[in-house]
Amino acid sequence: MTSVTLHDLSFRLRFSRAEIVERVAEVARDIHADYADREPMFVVVVNGAMFFAVDLLRLVDVPCTMACIQASSYGAGMQSKGVVDFGGLMPNVHGKDVIIVEDIVDTGTTVRAIQAKLAEQLPRSIAVAAVVNKPAAHTEPVHVQYRCFEMESEFLVGYGLDYAGRGRELTDIYELIADVPTQTTETKSN
Ligand code: IMP
Ligand code: MG
Repeated sequence: MTSVTLHDLSFRLRFSRAEIVERVAEVARDIHADYADREPMFVVVVNGAMFFAVDLLRLVDVPCTMACIQASSYGAGMQSKGVVDFGGLMPNVHGKDVIIVEDIVDTGTTVRAIQAKLAEQLPRSIAVAAVVNKPAAHTEPVHVQYRCFEMESEFLVGYGLDYAGRGRELTDIYELIADVPTQTTETKSN
């Protein structure tokens, strides 16, 4: 599929399944190299990161554990609420080498809040792995050690990313087709 329509918006293909698979394998190799002598604990931020987590954890060839957390900063549409809600149980990460698995780091608010929450339990280390990082959109300093793709500020769907709950199941990643601005011509009258 080269384009999809979800609710009222249309999206065009940005990263194919093949490109995603290739990048996830590279990220898995990087994590494997960095954690060869450690046993990382992957903290998967559901729902968005579950697709990435399944692919990634199967390829990271080191002993590891995993847990899921729920954190949401987005409302139903595309605007961040700027406030992070946690749901469900917090895993015990005391003394662990934690890798937060996220779908996308946009403003960085969500990841910063998760890092702060997990840090209360004194893990040994915390790193971040995301499908997409949008460095230009960060409103606070956040280091994303592992990412498959870097983007500007495009709104994306697929591979776990949703628009108002839709599109997570798409195997490729699509970007929003921006509305074509209406042409305006300035006329001067004397
Ligand atoms: P942040 O707190 O602004 O970094 O936003 C993080 C969360 O916003 C992500 O986990 C996503 O759920 C959502 N989000 C940010 N950008 C996008 C996007 O381009 N497509 C879909 N969801 C997004
Ligand atoms: Mg999310």
